[in-house]
Amino acid sequence: MCGIVGYQGKNSVVPILLDGLKALEYRGYDSAGIAILTNNKTTIIKEVGKVINLEKKIAKGIEAQTGIAHTRWATHGKVCNENAHPHHQGLITLVHNGIIENYIELKNELLKKNYVFNGQTDSEVLCAYIDMLYKQNNDMLKTISLMQKEVKGSYALLILNEKEPDKIYATRYNSPLIVSHTVDGTYFASDVPAIIKYTKKYYLLDNNDIAIAHNNIDFYNKDLTKINKIEQIFDKTVEATQKGKYKHFMLKEINEEPKVINDLLNYYVKDNKFNENMPNFKRYNKIFIIGCGSAYYTGEIAKNIFEKYVDIPVYCYLASEYRYQKNFYDKNTLAIFISQSGETADTLEALRKTKEDKIDTLAIVNGYASSIAREADKVLYLKAGVEVAVATTKAFVAQICLLNFIAIKMAGKEELLKYFLDLDKQIKKLLELDYKTLAKHFYKSCSAFFIGRGIDYGLCEEGSLKLKEISYINAQAFPAGELKHGTISLIEKNTPVVVITSNSELKYKTISNAKEVKARGAYLLNITNAKEADKFYDDIIEVPHIHEIVDPILMVVPLQMLAYHVALLKKYDIDKPRNLAKSVTVE
Ligand code: F6R
Repeated sequence: MCGIVGYQGKNSVVPILLDGLKALEYRGYDSAGIAILTNNKTTIIKEVGKVINLEKKIAKGIEAQTGIAHTRWATHGKVCNENAHPHHQGLITLVHNGIIENYIELKNELLKKNYVFNGQTDSEVLCAYIDMLYKQNNDMLKTISLMQKEVKGSYALLILNEKEPDKIYATRYNSPLIVSHTVDGTYFASDVPAIIKYTKKYYLLDNNDIAIAHNNIDFYNKDLTKINKIEQIFDKTVEATQKGKYKHFMLKEINEEPKVINDLLNYYVKDNKFNENMPNFKRYNKIFIIGCGSAYYTGEIAKNIFEKYVDIPVYCYLASEYRYQKNFYDKNTLAIFISQSGETADTLEALRKTKEDKIDTLAIVNGYASSIAREADKVLYLKAGVEVAVATTKAFVAQICLLNFIAIKMAGKEELLKYFLDLDKQIKKLLELDYKTLAKHFYKSCSAFFIGRGIDYGLCEEGSLKLKEISYINAQAFPAGELKHGTISLIEKNTPVVVITSNSELKYKTISNAKEVKARGAYLLNITNAKEADKFYDDIIEVPHIHEIVDPILMVVPLQMLAYHVALLKKYDIDKPRNLAKSVTVE
């Protein structure tokens, strides 16, 4: 998982590798390393912790034109230098994103051949395995092809071979990797921000493609036939991947939400009607919405809208569970996959399961030409721009917006589109409220609760996830009526409880539940778009009420801002919370 960077060309490689690693820091990692190849000799430098620690360890003036680099998010084996990438065995050095599932088998085979391992990772085993294959046939292309046949799991790989000093070999399977070739050299990266400073053009590698950089670039498919690839253009500027005037990417991205909504409107809507970019899924009478984490919660929220307006059943599934349960579908079922990155392994595997079952699939993703986008039957893009902060915000808003567009189109109710037009202004107003003062009621607590019913419960799930992932407060979301069945025992004096009440009949029920926790001493913060005479709350955030089709988009903004300000008070690393990665490419 995490970041890969590589460069082979005319320029000095170390600054390019370090710059690339810094640009990928947002993905979350716990160690970093580089390997450079000079005069048939590999030099590897790695360090636990931030890229800056690695930078300090690299001797000044170190010169090379070929090198690879990696930020590791531990999966196999603890966080230590031995487990950090690049790995080296025999002639081979590599960096690897993904997971090798049959590494124990491979390791046993290699131990018999006297390979010695310094750490516990699957990647070091893969490195030795490639070395073994190369020593058997003396041909890197053949070696990589043989490796592809024997190895199970996922990988994005950059490989150096000491016998071929001016070359980088690259291949991938179910883990992203891009290549860019310019007059200055060839760049490799797991994600666009690592190389956007140098070029906006890049090639996408398909599963099992092999790329060789050797002052030029060659591509081969899995049968080792030379192929041509179509260059892609990244349509964002370098600024899109930088913090600009904001203290954190998360804050920048929340502030981009008005623009994200307008960009979606511009792309899918013309003169208050959908344009040709919005297909109609009217023929389906059952919908599955599948995703992980926040992406899954957008499904739970949109389900309410689909069921009410389109009048068909919607089933939401956590992607990591979907494959292992019995699913009831027919030829009129549409499976919608929600993913910001488009690379989430659980979601990708659930997509593959639906394809095996011959269910029609639609991907709603942000990551352009990502694995999920490429494998689904149809794709609708979120157009939200690069999201850097690990905690998703603007993509979440775009996901609800786009799901509701689909519902409106299926329901034939385009007159509802007018309610989206004013959202940008309303969000801007919500961003100006004082969240800092409210955050003071939360930041010293070790737990917090979010309660609501119906759509509001979906919002509670998102609000509590945001809070827990960046402020490390044990925040739990509950359907408001459920508290009294056990969880209310956790409420103590001043326990913060966020009560979400949208303007619907359900609000009266939620208010009763809020009073129950108030009676037990809780601090109550109400986030509401429903005017209520009985003001028993400690604090209230009033959100404008436009229409239920767009209200959840407004209601989530204070939840995101609250989480941000609590984490800010706690002085945590908001954009890169501990233990998390931006793109979860392991199951
Ligand atoms: C929470 C968060 C995660 C992601 C989840 C799915 O703030 O960001 O819960 O929503 O890991 O990721 P994608 O959308 O990339 O599939």
